Amino acid sequence: MQILPLENSGKNKAINISHRKKSPSFGSFLRYDSVARCTLDSMFYRENDALLSVIRAVERNFPKGAEILDFACSNGEEAISIFSQLKDRAKYFIRAFDISPEAIAHARAGIHSVFSGCFDSFILDNHAVAKKAKLRDLFFSVMEPVESPNIAINKSTAYFNFRDRNPEFTEKYFRVKDEHASAIEYRKGDIRSLDHIETQRPVGAILFRNAFYHLCNNKILEALQYKINLASSVDKREAAQSLVRKIYDKLDKKGVFAIGEHFKDNIFVADLNAPVEKTVRFAQSKFFHDKYMASGNVMFMKKSPLVEALEEGDRFSPIHYSAVEFLGRRFLFPTVWQKVK
Ligand SMILES: C[S@@+](CC[C@H](N)C(=O)[O-])C[C@H]1O[C@@H](n2cnc3c(N)ncnc32)[C@H](O)[C@@H]1O
Repeated sequence: MQILPLENSGKNKAINISHRKKSPSFGSFLRYDSVARCTLDSMFYRENDALLSVIRAVERNFPKGAEILDFACSNGEEAISIFSQLKDRAKYFIRAFDISPEAIAHARAGIHSVFSGCFDSFILDNHAVAKKAKLRDLFFSVMEPVESPNIAINKSTAYFNFRDRNPEFTEKYFRVKDEHASAIEYRKGDIRSLDHIETQRPVGAILFRNAFYHLCNNKILEALQYKINLASSVDKREAAQSLVRKIYDKLDKKGVFAIGEHFKDNIFVADLNAPVEKTVRFAQSKFFHDKYMASGNVMFMKKSPLVEALEEGDRFSPIHYSAVEFLGRRFLFPTVWQKVK
């Protein structure tokens, strides 16, 4: 069986493209919220090329200032990464939201850990690569080291295994410096209630990275692992259209919207409402020797419903593309979109 192509790109030419050379190993925040029933994982400077596209677009298009709404902010490492890279920090205000009270409690407590072997462990080293050294300097312009806290920050099997089996393991803790403590506001919030969020300045950016799969139950790995039939779940095109409508209404013109580079944000298991001509079957791959896949039970949508919704009516135009890995292959997806009318 052949692997069929996905229709994965927006209509317009990309301005920026980020290609990750290697997938990150761990995030520096690893936790599962058993009440919200989702992983809260995050890390500093995650998918930073795309993040920088967002930051520079906001600075370019809102030189007098704007608000940045960071949804699915987890413990705040994404919001801190944005704040630290702003050229004129006083002009921009970051409102950060997460549906999980546990994530917001961690964000407000403001103690962050970075450990060896995680994606952002360059923060612990005197990094030789200039780009990383610059990022490390920006990190320390906002953060300061603290003693080990008496609360557990990371709580996941992957973290415990890694820590206990690696004799070289080191972990350090950081907090936001007092002078920057009010730059980011953390609140419990669901992106589906975006229309009820009050803002005081133009909205220059809305981020919802590595979380859209929660809105449409697009948990591909779980489906393959536990043989859950995701096809009967939420109408993904409807979930995408509803979200994009709210984002369009909230963003100011030239504002940007960002989704994540994780394949669950970009590649979608077909639901029962997906027209047959819009679906495609993936072959069994080296990555997944799975009977469920081999039997051809998993149908995917040819085009991301988010891309489809964002392209509708030419209201948004992609300004950044990211390489997304899935089943050992790389696809190029638009991950940052600008409101153009
Ligand atoms: C994998 S984390 C991603 C965190 C961060 N955006 C990043 O890319 O590092 C997913 C987060 O989405 C949050 N989340 C899930 N559904 C949400 C919703 N409807 N509104 C706001 N946050 C949501 C979860 O609580 C979790 O913290």
